Amino acid sequence: MASPGRLLGARRPLNVLGLALLLTVVYVTSVRWLGPWDAEQPDGINIAASRSRDILKHVDPLIGTVNGGHVFPGATLPYGMAKAVADTKSPGENAAGFVSGDDLILGFSNLHDSGTGGAASLGNFPIFVHPGCPDDDYTKCVYRVSSRPVQRVKDSVVAKPGYFSIELENQVRAEMTATMHTNLYRFSFRDEGHVKRDGQDVPASELKTTRPLILVDLQDLGGSIRNGSVQVFPETGRIIGNGTWMPSFGQGRYSGHVCVDFSGGSIVNSGTFLGNNATHKQTYTDDLPQRSKNPSGSAGGWMQFELPRGDEILARVGLSFISTERACLNAEQEIPDFGFERTLGEAEDAWIDKLSVVQVEAEGISEEMQTTFWSGLYRSFLSPQNYTGENPLWDSSEPYFDSFYCIWDSYRAQHPLLTILDPAAQAEMVRSMIDIYRHEGFLPDCRMSFCKGFTQGGSNADVVIADALVKNITDGVDWETAYAALLADAEETPYLWTLEGRGNHESWEELNYIAHDHMDTRGSGPLSRTVSRTLEYAYNDYCVAAVAEALGHHQDAEKYLSRSGYWRNVWNPEQEDLMETDDGHTQVTDFVGFPQPRGMDGQFKFQSTRTCSPAENMDSCYFDTHLAFYEGSAWLYSFYAPQDMAGLIDVFGGADVFTQRLDYFHSSGVAYMGNEPTYLTVFQFHYAGRPGKSAEWVHNYIPSQFNASINGIPGNDDCAMGAFSSMVMMGFFPVAGQDVYLLTGPFFPEVRLESRRGTPAVIRKTGEMEGKYIHSAKLNGKRYNKSWISHDFFLNGGLLELEMGHEESPEWGTRPEDLPPSHAPGLAQRV
Ligand SMILES: *[C@@H]1O[C@H](CO)[C@@H](O)[C@H](O)[C@H]1NC(C)=O
Ligand SMILES: *[C@@H]1O[C@H](CO)[C@@H](O)[C@H](O)[C@H]1NC(C)=O
Ligand SMILES: *[C@@H]1O[C@H](CO)[C@@H](O)[C@H](O)[C@H]1NC(C)=O
Ligand SMILES: *[C@@H]1O[C@H](CO)[C@@H](O)[C@H](O)[C@H]1NC(C)=O
Ligand SMILES: *[C@@H]1O[C@H](CO)[C@@H](O)[C@H](O)[C@H]1NC(C)=O
Ligand SMILES: *[C@@H]1O[C@H](CO)[C@@H](O)[C@H](O)[C@H]1NC(C)=O
Ligand SMILES: *[C@@H]1O[C@H](CO)[C@@H](O)[C@H](O)[C@H]1NC(C)=O
Repeated sequence: MASPGRLLGARRPLNVLGLALLLTVVYVTSVRWLGPWDAEQPDGINIAASRSRDILKHVDPLIGTVNGGHVFPGATLPYGMAKAVADTKSPGENAAGFVSGDDLILGFSNLHDSGTGGAASLGNFPIFVHPGCPDDDYTKCVYRVSSRPVQRVKDSVVAKPGYFSIELENQVRAEMTATMHTNLYRFSFRDEGHVKRDGQDVPASELKTTRPLILVDLQDLGGSIRNGSVQVFPETGRIIGNGTWMPSFGQGRYSGHVCVDFSGGSIVNSGTFLGNNATHKQTYTDDLPQRSKNPSGSAGGWMQFELPRGDEILARVGLSFISTERACLNAEQEIPDFGFERTLGEAEDAWIDKLSVVQVEAEGISEEMQTTFWSGLYRSFLSPQNYTGENPLWDSSEPYFDSFYCIWDSYRAQHPLLTILDPAAQAEMVRSMIDIYRHEGFLPDCRMSFCKGFTQGGSNADVVIADALVKNITDGVDWETAYAALLADAEETPYLWTLEGRGNHESWEELNYIAHDHMDTRGSGPLSRTVSRTLEYAYNDYCVAAVAEALGHHQDAEKYLSRSGYWRNVWNPEQEDLMETDDGHTQVTDFVGFPQPRGMDGQFKFQSTRTCSPAENMDSCYFDTHLAFYEGSAWLYSFYAPQDMAGLIDVFGGADVFTQRLDYFHSSGVAYMGNEPTYLTVFQFHYAGRPGKSAEWVHNYIPSQFNASINGIPGNDDCAMGAFSSMVMMGFFPVAGQDVYLLTGPFFPEVRLESRRGTPAVIRKTGEMEGKYIHSAKLNGKRYNKSWISHDFFLNGGLLELEMGHEESPEWGTRPEDLPPSHAPGLAQRV
């Protein structure tokens, strides 16, 4: 989903684009170009170098930590459950905990999501460190989250894979690293420079404090705690606790458990706190009645240490969703020795493992471009999170992943990327989705912290399942159950389709579109987004058909293929495009024919073609909308029929009109790259025989909207923005749900991907290395005229050579037989 706050800031896209073009030009001329890379050169030294630790040097986890990117920049493993970072007091911006800038620091919490659109997510069991208490009296320290925030030391943040550190103005330096279910913190106390004490600047060397106090709070970052409990064991230096909170974009509750052990410094005092009141009581249970007296919800345990100056205190934070015993066990098994450097080294190894399946020849490519690329790849591995073994909801031997947040975003680029780079993980995610169906009756659509999130459009796990099937993600996947899950989406109405599945089935079955005035009698959900749901349901049905066909259910396949043509039924061929001019007049553009809301009586109802685009009322199409499109305009959704692009181009009036309109969409300020549905539109020129136009827009958007600055993501990341930019920079983009990748040519002289069969998949540029346009191609030495490739290339490996040029080629990818496939379903138009 998109982030509302971010969208507000993205209002003037014409200017943004103008600036973007300018910056693109400046950028290109500043590239250090060391001469053409020799295509005949044997496997180069540069490529070999990327296998080493060097591969991490171009990862900047701080990209996207301002301006609505909502990226988690803290310490974690790939798909890691434990995620440690400093949380900032940044309402509306701190969805992932930390925001770059100068907002106050609230503490260091232990679970997070990355890149999500809405409210602060997770942020559980924050730890906070006081270097000492006034008069050395623990009752005089502040405890609750609303009292304790402290300023960070400017520019003190260091973030890299597996590591995050920050210095606070109160003398504390916090470093953190992580294993799968455990965070390890190293706290030290500056004895140089000035620190803030009671509002005064004091030289750190004069501070007498030797008794730091560390607290563990049960409140989460969103302030959603329902209840919780904590127990302190001063003999062993352990604090255990649990809590129950609310999901950040869904319904229900979830509980979590913590086990904190300290090392370094001897314990002189300990107890619990409620609000700002601390006592020596060793146990504390919070419940709703007590919370009404303690509005901040802060409550927890604390320990105070005797510490010779210069020493460090380590805090090991074991986490679990099962029990406190499991949380302690996780910590003891994963970090038995409190070894910070060892843990960090292993985290780095885990990241190197994930990233080194990709190698690029980077000669002539700027540091910024490389950082954009590797950081985007890195972010694609932050979520979904591997909670296998940590699922309290049911017993199962299947994997369990969480934070599918949301599949509406991730099906388009992130899952296809993982399918190439980490097929074993993608298989586990698919199995996990199927297991959720097995136990909850429907595939997840948006899911976080063991709760169902809100559905945004169609049932897009259908696309992920089809994508996996056509790309040979088969390890351990129970396809018959997968198929049953798809049928549930296609046929059954959940009690609350606002949380799973689809709604308005009667309208779909009888009218063959979702009518804007159809009242669902089988289940309930918001009667909105009727056009975007129609378009998505149609594509979802195409995906059901693809799986049905592959599994031999031919009749079903025909049925769903026919339903996949229902996108036509919301197309109003007469709809004009009205645009407000600068002087407040309404002008009609040359473009006619758009998807529009339609009533039970078959009549179309007008919704401005530009509403919910940067050009008009950008923020009116979030989950609470009453409008007909979700997070996008009629303009955006007019391009969405990936199952039948040839049919769509006909409806537009032919390839030339289609190209003209798509170009206008991208150049007029109607397109918004900060949201996932726009990705595919960058490449759809391919279907009109103009792959060169796709390449132009690719180079327009990267680096102008995807770059290595701290604000270098155009919208909230969703772990998807980086998947988009890194695939695009490797030279291709997937049509999710189909065995199709559209080619535009890599930004690097050569890209090399490990394949499951051992032979790497290599994409190599030849000809004009700085040219944007593919002029001709060879696949495994043979001439290749198609503008797309299939997954075989990544599965079995091979060599794709792309001859590049400075002008759009009139030949390559332009003839009907070279276009990507269009699965023209039967003409299903009803009226
Ligand atoms: C907190 O709420 C959860 C879920 O409602 C419940 O299972 C748990 O027992 C409660 N804990 C306490 C300490 O009240
Ligand atoms: C949390 O711990 C308390 C005390 O041990 C226990 O009574 C409560 O049931 C636990 N809550 C959950 C959700 O496990
Ligand atoms: C803290 O203690 C003060 C004084 O005893 C009391 O008025 C206040 O209600 C207490 N706060 C909480 C959250 O218990
Ligand atoms: C997920 O976690 C389980 C249990 O720790 C592990 O066996 C599995 O390999 C993990 N999967 C991935 C993709 O990391
Ligand atoms: C992919 O899977 C399909 C069906 O399981 C099989 O027929 C095909 O040979 C596989 N492709 C490759 C390249 O292994
Ligand atoms: C980097 O990307 C951001 C977000 O899209 C954009 O606002 C900014 O102008 C870009 N910066 C550069 C130098 O292109
Ligand atoms: C590719 O196109 C060229 C003409 O541009 C033609 O001569 C050649 O036969 C085509 N090759 C294939 C494999 O279609």
